[in-house]
Amino acid sequence: AEQVREQWSTRTVFILAAIGSAVGLGNIWRFPYVAYDNGGGAFIIPYLIALLTAGIPLLFFDYAIGHKFRGSPPLAFKRLHKRAEVIGWWQVGVSFVIAVYYAVIIAWAARYTIFSLDEAWGDDAATFFSTDFLQQDSESTFGFNYVTGVWVPLLLVWIAVIAVLALGVQKGIGSTAKVFVPLLVTLFSVLVVRALFLDGAGLGLDALFTPDWSALTDSGVWIAAYGQIFFSLSIAFGIMITYASYLKRKTNMTGSGLVVAFSNSGFEILAGIGVFAVLGYMAQSDGVAVSEVASSGIGLAFIAFPSVISMMPGGPIFGVLFFGCLVFAGFTSLVSIVQVIISGLQDKTGMARVPAVLLVGTVCTAVSMILLPTTTGLNVLDVLDKFANNIGIVSVAVVALVVVSWFTRSLPALQDDLNAVSSFKLGIVWRVFLGVITPVVLAYMLIDEVSTLISDGYGGLPTGLVVGFGWVVQLGVVALAIVLSFLPWQRSIDLTVPSTSKEEAK
Ligand code: PHE
Ligand code: NA
Repeated sequence: AEQVREQWSTRTVFILAAIGSAVGLGNIWRFPYVAYDNGGGAFIIPYLIALLTAGIPLLFFDYAIGHKFRGSPPLAFKRLHKRAEVIGWWQVGVSFVIAVYYAVIIAWAARYTIFSLDEAWGDDAATFFSTDFLQQDSESTFGFNYVTGVWVPLLLVWIAVIAVLALGVQKGIGSTAKVFVPLLVTLFSVLVVRALFLDGAGLGLDALFTPDWSALTDSGVWIAAYGQIFFSLSIAFGIMITYASYLKRKTNMTGSGLVVAFSNSGFEILAGIGVFAVLGYMAQSDGVAVSEVASSGIGLAFIAFPSVISMMPGGPIFGVLFFGCLVFAGFTSLVSIVQVIISGLQDKTGMARVPAVLLVGTVCTAVSMILLPTTTGLNVLDVLDKFANNIGIVSVAVVALVVVSWFTRSLPALQDDLNAVSSFKLGIVWRVFLGVITPVVLAYMLIDEVSTLISDGYGGLPTGLVVGFGWVVQLGVVALAIVLSFLPWQRSIDLTVPSTSKEEAK
């Protein structure tokens, strides 16, 4: 018979797990840099508009699908319409790609937590990162020379993820979130307060928050704001559909969504303040402009921060806190993304949890370990990340929105489903944002991105790498999704929409 669906014990556990998924590497290293690069203080405006018109409406959309159809993305979309299952598998596929490289950044952070103890990077953190730590090989496009210093922590990260997931939704994911989220908030607050007392902190904050109003007329800035909101809220990846499917029927959905969305953005602003206070200190000590030390993404966390740690009093403690926070933040996000794949497999085949976790965990671990902890792994990671976020997620979001709004015309039913149990009621505004504005903005973003990638390639990287790990992987995900959607479902599953009354009788 159909297995009984796992459940969160309380709404608080669900909210903590959802915050755990949302608050990740994107908040700590991605947001500060993106904000700085896209108009500083003025970025807050497109950011808030993207949050209110697309982020929160889409978060509610994911919740509604998971809550009404009570399934992993493939099952939920199958119940929505018999042809829509492929959208669910597409999300599962994108989640798989992200999981494979996201784990690697956590492994680096884990290693850097230990490096912090004796400031192992010496006085040239940039060379240390690329040459000593990653042993980057700039001659080859792609190869299989493994780096033990990355390989070992990566394996440990995967073992920990598998262990948590094997314990299940409540005992594994829920309990981890109950410990990690409050811990993260506490440690990170200590970090930010310490950063604010550094000499020159104000300089950094000025750099971050001084508005460049001309940025508002630049379409690239708006695209960056929408991109950040998407990645940061973990929407359209199937995560929130999956997590919402484990809720009791009568749960205040939109109220929970608002808590999650504002916690995530709050954490992001906090991270911006902390990171820029540190950069201000570094700029002041070196007698340079903040713009010179605010280098991009990965470089910020693994190059600029180590340099600061070496300069400041009590650096090792600060380093352990910072990299420890990256590990905690990333871990709960990684767990959420792998659960999407597991739940899809379980629903489709009827497999029990532990074998499903072991199967999915082994495949993820193997692919991740084969492709990434190598001397060419950094570029592979860069391409996977760029395409999964700017192409994969955006395309699947547009398709899902168009199908649900225009083909199956389900928005009113989803709205009723949420309103029946929620405190914050949705109306026509929600449907207009989702059915019209967001798909138009996303389609525009996508066209812009695809044409730039085709004409300019990406980041000066070799074409073979961009084609292989970018285009081929993303198209492969779609092809695989189509194949999976034609495979038969386990015989005991009920593919009709679960009725509210039946559910309540249970
Ligand atoms: N929301 C996470 C962050 O801000 C990123 C993430 C996206 C995690 C998708 C899992 C899945 O870092
Ligand atoms: Na986030």
